[in-house]
Amino acid sequence: MTKPVQSALMRQAHMHMPQGVAENYRYWGDAQTVFVHSAKGCRITDVDGQEHVDFRLGYGPIILGYRDERVDAAVVAQIQRGGTVTGFSTALDSQVVQQIKALCPQIDKLRFANSGTEAVMGALRTARGFTGRTRIAMVEGSFHGLFDEVMWKSDIEHWDPSSAQVPQVIPFGAGIPQNSRNLVDIIGLNDHAALEQLFAQRGQELACVILEPIIGNAGSIAATSLWLQRLRDLCTQHGALLVLDEVKTGFRVAAGGAQALYGIYADLTTFAKAMGNGYPVAAFGGRADVMDVVGSQAGGVVHGGTYTANMVALSAAHATLDILTHTDALKTIDRVGLQIKALLGRVFTQAGVPHAFAGPPAMLGIHFTSDVPSTYRDWRKTDSALYNRFAWQMIAHGVMLEPDSREPWFMCEAHADVDLAWLEDMAARSVQIALA
Ligand SMILES: Cc1ncc(COP(=O)(O)O)c(C=O)c1O
Repeated sequence: MTKPVQSALMRQAHMHMPQGVAENYRYWGDAQTVFVHSAKGCRITDVDGQEHVDFRLGYGPIILGYRDERVDAAVVAQIQRGGTVTGFSTALDSQVVQQIKALCPQIDKLRFANSGTEAVMGALRTARGFTGRTRIAMVEGSFHGLFDEVMWKSDIEHWDPSSAQVPQVIPFGAGIPQNSRNLVDIIGLNDHAALEQLFAQRGQELACVILEPIIGNAGSIAATSLWLQRLRDLCTQHGALLVLDEVKTGFRVAAGGAQALYGIYADLTTFAKAMGNGYPVAAFGGRADVMDVVGSQAGGVVHGGTYTANMVALSAAHATLDILTHTDALKTIDRVGLQIKALLGRVFTQAGVPHAFAGPPAMLGIHFTSDVPSTYRDWRKTDSALYNRFAWQMIAHGVMLEPDSREPWFMCEAHADVDLAWLEDMAARSVQIALA
């Protein structure tokens, strides 16, 4: 399908923004970069008039649907009364914290932020302030936002899975100071030996271990309960904090997030995305004794910002959390997710494509391999090139996906109105073309 309006906008955008986009991850190539005209429910329409059922959902924040009228009306009412930001406290601050505490028993106290990145920065600074230690450990394949010290990753793309070598750790790109690497250890998910070694070597120096328990940035590959519990116990034994980054999983995979599914709880948790159905709101919080190190007392951890807990963010969070608490929205999402998983399973089986699903139905990882991957290195052994071709065909057929199997399929309540027979047909056609 030719996209004349999109092509013209792309040419123009190159004159105004590096790579012609407002942020790196939106650039999909000069011919492929998507320019959205409108969005409603689970659908987006591009500037050339093509409609897509969207399973990308802006990297996950849309949990109800685009332009959900219940949330939008609450935001409009709030800003018409109280403006967007006054730099003062409001009653809504504690109300939203109480809503979160009612869903997440691990949260005693909380502070707000404007993005997942900012929430993670707040959590790490708090962990360091509380423990008086500087080192942190992360898990291969997890993503925690764009600030220097978490922008180190295993170079999985250039790693040969058949070699005995481990992947090299590299920065995401230019501009990351080498000395930020010195503060960070990276271990493999579900790797018991690496976990024991980490604590044997670094246990007394670690401020925290941070991870996504279900890796929303590595195709929903999930920690086993056994490994996560061992990590929990080792953190407690060594006085290091466990920070679970629930920016993608929070208020999505269950009302109480991944921690509710595991029954294993962090000292500090980060939230964003589904918390506000697409409005920019985030938070970090946890144990009262840990969070109480935040404040202007001597030795306190500094946290703040002009837009923190602004009225747009908080009214959106209040309305979204109210809906997630008091309606069947998450049940609907799980039901539709399971139906979609079943239909895709039929399509892949009929096409003779080995496949495995990872993670919960609300954040479905799809991998072309026989066994569910349990580490990021396993993901490298999947047929991600076939997935990539399949995803591009789905996009051409009106189903929006990230063309990278590390990004799971996100479900929202509005997906309940998708014609599943149509979706199955589009998937069957796409897989045939991808295989040809
Ligand atoms: C687990 C996780 N943490 C942190 C972030 C950063 O959030 P943001 O993009 O809102 O800064 C993301 C973003 O995708 C994420 O998935």
